[in-house]
Amino acid sequence: MIVTGRDPDRLAAVRDRVAAAEQVDGASESEVASFFDRAGVIDHLVLAFSPGAVGMGNLSDTRVADIRLAFEGKLFGYLSAIQRAKVTGSITMVSAVSARAAMPGTVALAAVNGAIERIVPPLAAELAPVRVNAVSPGVIDTPWWAFVPDDQRQVRLASYTERIPAGRAGEARRSPTPCII
Ligand SMILES: NC(=O)c1ccc[n+]([C@@H]2O[C@H](COP(=O)([O-])OP(=O)(O)OC[C@H]3O[C@@H](n4cnc5c(N)ncnc54)[C@H](OP(=O)(O)O)[C@@H]3O)[C@@H](O)[C@H]2O)c1
Repeated sequence: MIVTGRDPDRLAAVRDRVAAAEQVDGASESEVASFFDRAGVIDHLVLAFSPGAVGMGNLSDTRVADIRLAFEGKLFGYLSAIQRAKVTGSITMVSAVSARAAMPGTVALAAVNGAIERIVPPLAAELAPVRVNAVSPGVIDTPWWAFVPDDQRQVRLASYTERIPAGRAGEARRSPTPCII
């Protein structure tokens, strides 16, 4: 497995668990292109990066420039990676529940993640037999939520998740006892 990201410390922290951990800015077309040229053929491509809560807020209070950044940092990054990667097996993009919810303050997120979910069928048709899918998480307690002050974060997450069956936000840690059937 090869992982990529921008932060050298976070890459260093996983380097002993993966085949390679490379510094690549997914929003930079040239860095993405040279990474995939170096990487050669890839079995499975997972696109999970995002610029975080950029563009979050009611539309009337949101700068269009931030909405552009939300697209640049996720959708356009995914598109340039898919254009350049030589994939033989599957492409999985991470979208978000905002694509199909009706939550105020998420217009930009809905636009970006809705676009990701909508490109799955035509991409699957273009790239067959490579499989193309999107995974759409709900609310997950990760650094994505760092924009909410520490003392308010758990209350905020609970307000989004109290009505879902699990009644809590998801966690990003690896399960110690995975069950694969
Ligand atoms: N957390 C949630 O509640 C939630 C809900 C639904 C969907 N999602 C989606 O799930 C995915 C993962 O989110 P997360 O919660 O794990 O967010 P996160 O904790 O903020 O992590 C985002 C990751 O993306 C990397 N990244 C960001 N911009 C990048 C860029 N331009 N190039 C390369 N790497 C970049 C960051 O690494 P570096 O900083 O090292 O680059 C970081 O590892 C995202 O697509 C997000 O939209 C999250």
